[in-house]
Amino acid sequence: MYTTLKEVTKTAEALNFTVGAFNTHNLEMLPSMLRAAKEMGAPIIIQTSIDTAKYIGYDVLVNVVKTIADHELVDAVLHLDHARDFDEIKAAIDSGYSSVMYDGSHLPFKENILKTRAVVEYAHAHGVSVEGELGTIGGTEEGIHVEEDDKVFTRPEDAVEFVAATGVDALAIAIGTNHGQFRSKTEVNVELLKEIHAVVDVPLVIHGGTGVKEEDYPELINNGIRKFNVGTELLVNWTKIAKENFGATEVNKSLRHNVIPSNEAIKEIVKHKIGLFMNTKAPTAIGK
Ligand code: 13P
Repeated sequence: MYTTLKEVTKTAEALNFTVGAFNTHNLEMLPSMLRAAKEMGAPIIIQTSIDTAKYIGYDVLVNVVKTIADHELVDAVLHLDHARDFDEIKAAIDSGYSSVMYDGSHLPFKENILKTRAVVEYAHAHGVSVEGELGTIGGTEEGIHVEEDDKVFTRPEDAVEFVAATGVDALAIAIGTNHGQFRSKTEVNVELLKEIHAVVDVPLVIHGGTGVKEEDYPELINNGIRKFNVGTELLVNWTKIAKENFGATEVNKSLRHNVIPSNEAIKEIVKHKIGLFMNTKAPTAIGK
């Protein structure tokens, strides 16, 4: 069933797991992601940047995710990741995205509250969930780079005020993670997560999931992380395998032979991650 962030995180809260939110960059990898969730018996969040949504088409993405979710009987959310432009958020909502993120983390605190609140009002009137962000996550995403020295961790007292004033359905927090970190792993500030979780009652979100150590997952899940973003690990593996296949191919060989192995790798990674997120083991988990 096509559903919302609010619904899937409610289930995750009740059963103490986290919902995998996987960034897609093209249409090719999308069915594999949804089928991985189906095989694992888990809900899934498919997320796109604005650039990917414009490349594929907001309405095309909505229709593909809805169709596969209905045919495969998997609970799926389509979420707009890191949006800063109200018009793009409106375009996503009007096309049928079931969840959006307004990222006002670069703004002064009060301005972040006001702009997030405006998005919440429009989104909730359309039955769409909203994720907000407080603090800055390191690394680079969609061309926006945050230097290590410019990273600001989320302050628990700010999180309380932000959630109450905006009405967000989920909150992305800065506890030491970085976007796009795939050559090394980060040290997550679990103590800070515990402090935030103790005072905030909305589902919490991890960004930069590729750079988080898998052995840290249980502690994050046990302390309120209900949406766990993974993008770069998919992107890097899809590209690596596609390069090998495109490099070795005959010119008149069907294109699908070059992308099917990449899509299959995505399916295995998503299954592996969901297995850890649900605290169960994927039947065909990689990296055993
Ligand atoms: P990674 O690409 O580092 O896994 O992060 C994904 C993310 O947080 C998307 O917002």
